[in-house]
Formats: sequence, structure tokens, C-alpha cells
Amino acid sequence: MKTFIDSLLAQAEFQTVRLLEILRAVQAEFRHIPEPAIELIAAGLQVPRTQIIAMAEFYSFLHLNPQGRYDLLISDSITDRMLGNQQVLDALAARLQVEVGGVRGDGLVSLNRTSCTGMCDQGPAGLVNGFPLPRLTPAKIAAVAELIEKQVPLENWPAELFQVDEPLYRADLLLNQPFSGGEALQRTFARGLTETLAELDRSHLRGRGGAGFKTALKWRTCSQQAATPRYVICNADEGEPGTFKDRMLLDRYADQVFEGMTVCAAIIGSGQGLLYLRADYLFLRDKLLAVLQARREQGLLGQAILGHDGFDFDIEIRMGAGAYICGEASAQIESWEGKPGIPRTKPPNSVVCGYQRNPTVVDNVETFFAATHIAIQGGQWFADVGTPQSTGTKLLSISGDCLRPGIYEYPFGTPVRQILQDCGAEEVMGVQVGGPSGTFISDRELDRVVAFEDLSTAGSFMVFNRSRNLFAIAQNFTDFFAHESCGFCTPCRVGTSLLKNQLAKIVGGHGAPEDLEHLSALCEIVKNNSHCGLGESAANPILTTLLSYPELYLRQLQYREFAPGFDLDATLAAARRLAQREDPAAHLNQVEN
Ligand SMILES: Cc1cc2nc3c(=O)[nH]c(=O)nc-3n(C[C@H](O)[C@H](O)[C@H](O)COP(=O)(O)O)c2cc1C
Ligand code: SF4
Repeated sequence: MKTFIDSLLAQAEFQTVRLLEILRAVQAEFRHIPEPAIELIAAGLQVPRTQIIAMAEFYSFLHLNPQGRYDLLISDSITDRMLGNQQVLDALAARLQVEVGGVRGDGLVSLNRTSCTGMCDQGPAGLVNGFPLPRLTPAKIAAVAELIEKQVPLENWPAELFQVDEPLYRADLLLNQPFSGGEALQRTFARGLTETLAELDRSHLRGRGGAGFKTALKWRTCSQQAATPRYVICNADEGEPGTFKDRMLLDRYADQVFEGMTVCAAIIGSGQGLLYLRADYLFLRDKLLAVLQARREQGLLGQAILGHDGFDFDIEIRMGAGAYICGEASAQIESWEGKPGIPRTKPPNSVVCGYQRNPTVVDNVETFFAATHIAIQGGQWFADVGTPQSTGTKLLSISGDCLRPGIYEYPFGTPVRQILQDCGAEEVMGVQVGGPSGTFISDRELDRVVAFEDLSTAGSFMVFNRSRNLFAIAQNFTDFFAHESCGFCTPCRVGTSLLKNQLAKIVGGHGAPEDLEHLSALCEIVKNNSHCGLGESAANPILTTLLSYPELYLRQLQYREFAPGFDLDATLAAARRLAQREDPAAHLNQVEN
């Protein structure tokens, strides 16, 4: 073990910021983080052993106890449940003689659930030792069980077991654009850096990671900071259940994403780019490394890019380890620095004080992709599409009850009704726009539009037909937040568990009308007092399903008689106030992260 750890530490240049990478390698080698490894790493990096233990406890894909040599994780997102993930778990447990949540006595295999694997378009899905197993049919389950029993090394498993498709059903402004490597950089240098930033301003591009901050403002603010070095981070954590459009972009359009990062580097004066890749997308890592290498060979990364003396920039990829909160920009920076991903207190924002306390732009994959094409075509070309507050197009990841789950690119302002028609959805009971942290709308609201000023989404669009149980949806999302809360602040740590329990009480038929009032009050506490966006949105599944179908909640109540003083209308009005986003334009003139 000592030789292995010593070589890891040497490769990582004994840097504490590489602690997560080191622990991922130890986990892969020993199937857990053994005590002697903790001691060796602590001594080698001169960090307290408690920091290493905290990391192992924080990240779902790290363990202090040994997992099986074949570690199976089955996705537990709502769409995977709808596609029969429980049958997959039952079948694997029976065939492999292992309990769900346990490790088989001989240590060969472990089986568990995971929040979501980013494959909601091809579920029920799972992972084996971090590699994807989409569309787990009974035949595939039998094959997987046999390969494990025969102890066949993963590299000898049939490739089709790991085949992830990228079903792209609708391309629009961006996905239809031709591109050749270096084009955006050439245009940027020909036009000038200040002028290119002005084009980005003219485009009104807003970040595609959810919050919709003005990209040009973020880049400009970062470029104006005195401190150096400055960093460009591409947020490819994509942990919101139901979102998988960044997976497709990285799989098929990585060159354009890296080019957007490089344009950003030129504008803000950065020499180092970082891409934080969600753990479940391990299968993309080698492909992405090859794209980076090809760019180096074309003079698009490295020293004096495209012959511009002094413009040196390169990009490094590091993997997450199964923590939804690490999608939040400041939590991600903590994770980059080798710590548990706990969101920072702001201000200062990351553009001022980010990675290693230096100015840092953190943007979503799709934001960089869009920036590439804006650098080529100019801002007006982009601003002419969409709505005045939401220019351009949005990539949607559509999953759930429809004939054609996959990726769709739409101009902002497209009505939900049209999207449902295009993806082949019928008998719709509701749509979850924006994942668990977003909004549930009923079939009475299908004329609402996808846009920052109406239904905002980082990309998740889940369809539910009339055969679905509203409470199964709300409970899955509420449980998700309770599981993913990082535990740093009390309103979220305790509140998300209380929300889960209070909802279970009502759904289980044990609630009185006052319990609805309590539930609504609890939602308010969690939403208004949490430290970060996770807690602020954890009540959304309850609030928006309650507003869509109050009659279903009322039907669940055990005692329908309202106590004196109980005011149902007031409870619903409070829920409505809470569920409505604050002024959607409020973020426009702020710099986030
Ligand atoms: C709990 C939580 C999870 C998030 N997950 C992601 C994510 O997976 N990808 C992402 O780009 N942004 C995510 N965000 C938003 C980021 O904090 C940040 O706003 C975004 O990366 C900025 O990029 P943009 O301006 O290009 O949207 C998350 C935010 C929160 C609160
Ligand atoms: S709101 Fe939740 S996720 Fe965010 S810091 Fe508090 S406990 Fe952590």
C-alpha cells in the first residue's frame, strides 16, 4: 500500500488541492479508504487525518468500509423509478445473493441506490465501478450478474453494456452551427478582446446553469480584479436529476466547449482552466482528454495560443465524487481545493475570491458552448432569437412519459405544450421543469413558456402522465434534498428531514388539516433561512405540487374537519407566495458565484 500511496502523492505533486483525486484513486484501488492510507496521505500532505475522514464521509462515492470488488449503484431518480429500478435492484439482489445497501459476504459485490446517474433518458440505469449501465433490461441484468460471478474484468465486458446514446431530436441556433477548431479564437483576436466582450454583452447571454446571471458582466468583473492568477472553471457537475444535456455537449461538442473556455481565458486574462466532471460521467474522461490533446497539437491550448505571445492557457479535468451540492459554484471550488463541498459564505463572490482565493469565472458547459458561437457570429445574431429577457436558445433534457426522451434545443419562449407535442407526450398530468429544485406545473398550465421570466430551467424537463402518483414525485424529490443536504446549516440539515417526514405523514394518511399548515410553515423556514440554493429550493417540490393539485393533498388528510381558525386559503396563498420566484430579473445586474 505504501508504494501505491507514495506514487499517488508524487503524481499529485504532494498538493492538498489534489486530495479528492488522490482519494478517488485509493477508493478505486482498495474499494475503500483504508486506515493506513489515511495515515500515509495525512503525513505526506501534512493535513489532519480528520480532513481525510471528513472527505470520505462527505462524498457518496468514497467509503471508509470496503465495497464489493464490483460495486453496483442503481439510479433512484423518479424517472428511473418509473422505468422499474426497484425490479432491477430486486433481480440483481436475488441473482447475486446480496442485500440492497450491503456487501456480499465474500466481498465480490456490493449493491446500492444512488440519487441519479445523469441517464434519465435511458433508464433504468446504473453504474458498475463508476461506469454506466444504461437501459437495464432483464437480459442485461442476467448478463451483468453472470459476468460478476465469473469475475470477468470490466475491460472484458461486452461494450454494448456500457453504450450511452445521445438522442438529439431537435437542433436549433447553436447545435446547427458548423464549427472548426480555433474559429472563435481567431474571430476574438481579429475583433479585439474588449470588442468581443461587448458582443457578449450585446447577446444578453445568461448563464445556463440555472440562476441566469449575465455572462458578460461576470467575465468583465473578473477581468477587472487586480489579483492574479485568474481561473476559468467549467461546471460539468450536472447533478440536477433529469438533466443530461451537458453529457451530450461534452460527448459530441467538447471542442466547442473548450473553445468557449479559451475565449473566456483570453478576455479575463487566465492561464488555467479547470473542468469539474461529475463522477457518473467517468466514461467521458478519456474522450475529453483526447480532445484536449488534439487542441494542444493544433496550437489551441498551451503556450502562445495561435501565435499570440503571452497567451498561455491550458485546461485540466478533475472528477467529482458523488455530491450534488458540488454543482454549486463555491462548493465546487472548495471541492477543487481538496475539501468537502460546503458552500462558502458570500460575499466575496468567486469572481473576486474563487479558486485558491483568486478571481475565478465559474460557468456552465452550455454557457461556454454558447459563448463560442457568439464570439464567431456576434451578439445580435444571438439576441435576435428568444425573448427580450431570455435571448438565444436552451437545451432541454427531456425524460419521463414521452415517446422520444432525449435532447431538444428550443428558442427561449417556447410553450410547454409545443415541447410535449414534439417529444410525443400524451395524457399529461404534469411536468417538472428545472428538476427537483424547479417547478411542477399541472396540465392547466401548459401554455406557460420556458424562459427565465416564466419557467426557468437548467435543462431538466420531466414529463408525467395521468397514471403517475403525484406524491411519489414530490416524495422522491423531497427525499433527494434531505439526502443531498451538505449539513452545514441547521435550517436545511434539519428542515429537509422534517419536510420529508411531514410529507410522509400526510401522504400516509395520518395528517390533519393543520399538518398542511405546518408543512407550509416549514417550507417557509427552510426556504428563507438556508445558507445556499439547495436549501432555498428544497421546498419547491412540495410547494409546487400543492399549488398544482391542492385537492389531492386535501384528499389525503385523515381528519377533513378543519380546526377552528384554520384557513386553507391562507395556507395556499402562503404557499403560492413562496413558490413564486423572486423577481426573475433581480439577478441580471448582480455578479453571482
Ligand atoms: C445545489 C446547487 C447545484 C448546482 N448544480 C449546478 C450544476 O450541476 N451545473 C451548473 O452549471 N450549475 C449548477 N449550479 C449553479 C452554480 O452555482 C452556478 O450558478 C453556475 O455554475 C454558474 O454558471 P452559469 O452562470 O454559466 O450558469 C448549482 C447551484 C446549486 C445551488
Ligand atoms: S442550505 Fe443545505 S446544502 Fe446549502 S449550506 Fe445549508 S445545509 Fe448545506
